Amino acid sequence: MRQRTIAEPYKIKMVEPIKMTTRAEREGLMKEAGFNTFLLKSEDVYIDLLTDSGTSAMSDRQWAGMFLGDEAYAGSRNFYHLEAAVREVYGFRHTVPTHQGRAAEHITSQLRVKPGQFVPMNMYFTTTREHAERAGGVFFDCIIDEAHDPQSKHPFKGNVDLAKLQKLVDEKGAESIAYLSIAPCVNMAGGQPLSMANLREVAAWAKKYRLSIIFDATRALENAYFIQQREKGYAAKSVREILREMMSYGEGCTMSSKKDNLVNIGGFLATNNEDFFVKAKEMVVVFEGLHTYGGLAGRDMEAVARGIEEMVDDAYIASRVRQVEYLGSRLLEAGVPIVEPIGGHAVFLDAKRFLPDMPQDHFPSQALAAALYVDSGVRSMERGIVSAGRDPKTGEHRRPKLELVRLTIPRRVYTNLHMDVVAESCQALLEERKKIRGLDMVYEPESLRFFQARFEAR
Ligand code: F0G
Repeated sequence: MRQRTIAEPYKIKMVEPIKMTTRAEREGLMKEAGFNTFLLKSEDVYIDLLTDSGTSAMSDRQWAGMFLGDEAYAGSRNFYHLEAAVREVYGFRHTVPTHQGRAAEHITSQLRVKPGQFVPMNMYFTTTREHAERAGGVFFDCIIDEAHDPQSKHPFKGNVDLAKLQKLVDEKGAESIAYLSIAPCVNMAGGQPLSMANLREVAAWAKKYRLSIIFDATRALENAYFIQQREKGYAAKSVREILREMMSYGEGCTMSSKKDNLVNIGGFLATNNEDFFVKAKEMVVVFEGLHTYGGLAGRDMEAVARGIEEMVDDAYIASRVRQVEYLGSRLLEAGVPIVEPIGGHAVFLDAKRFLPDMPQDHFPSQALAAALYVDSGVRSMERGIVSAGRDPKTGEHRRPKLELVRLTIPRRVYTNLHMDVVAESCQALLEERKKIRGLDMVYEPESLRFFQARFEAR
């Protein structure tokens, strides 16, 4: 039987005009922005695939909830809605709201990492690693090798390699590990999921050594969808049930609600560990705000609570991930090199294969992202040597194997015709790839340099 189309389980009630600039204008704008797409003005962008973070379209129900904000300093009713939604959907008893994910990472790292301890992660994420390092921790990559190979078609490239963890414990002892920071749908690997079987094994292993798993649950829902689609025994389960089972293997999570939770701002730290909760509550007051608002307005917490309830709809998440797959398939048909399998939140162009002659020191992904903007006004993001930053000990560039450009799809925002425009632009660039020039970095911030670094054409 032919596969039937699944359309979005919603219709559009409000629109926001976007405008196309001319190629000559975009050439000037890109130069002015130092060849860094983060430094472009949003109004100069036609299709904005910079990130899926905080860029979702909220539903009428969420917007209605914004008018029910209880803007009290303490004990806002919206906090209790948020707490109830997290309990119900993620299964964690205690919630500490934060203004976004990295604030929850900051609190977690400060409370749970002792200087010199390792923090194993299934590949790094920029802010997560940064906070672990600021707390004196040492990042340890425990993802399977396939994740570093953009052409490996492993269905669960986000899996943890237990042998790597075992080696660390054998050599350094379990007490040298702060906790396991496990991210479903690994962003930097291309939005690749881990399997429930892997998670179960990691949890059993961690228990043996009395180590905790603290999830970076940012895109856990998208991971739940892949488990439903790809893993034996889960086809008949709802994403809601799958997500709940995934989270049951962790002691808690940090969360950027700006992704899965379908809001423009917000995050939280959630846990079943009383002691961690009490300490986190004390710390959030110093950095974010009282523990019943954590830097968010009451209305924002209401939108998060409603987003959490809405996201666990099988039809919604299917249409969401399938749109990403649609863009990826179009690119594959056109022969554009991308990371496979296609991820949950983004399609990643493989800049190493796109620009095989450009040395990594000429920042190929940065150059490709700039060229894409000049061609069509599509904004993407570098995820290669610039994002990887420098080794804090040696001061050398970290040289990641993956040199990628991320085309990140906001949730419920663009149609598949927008995806067609993006695919056609990538194809046009591939045909003219010889014309894409490398870059020199002329300004480099000390940390998270990709956000503000500036470049010039070589
Ligand atoms: N963890 C992951 C896996 C993320 O992708 C992000 C943010 C964070 C944590 C931090 O959350 O932004 O709310 O403070 N990722 C964004 C992105 C910035 O574009 O991928 P935040």
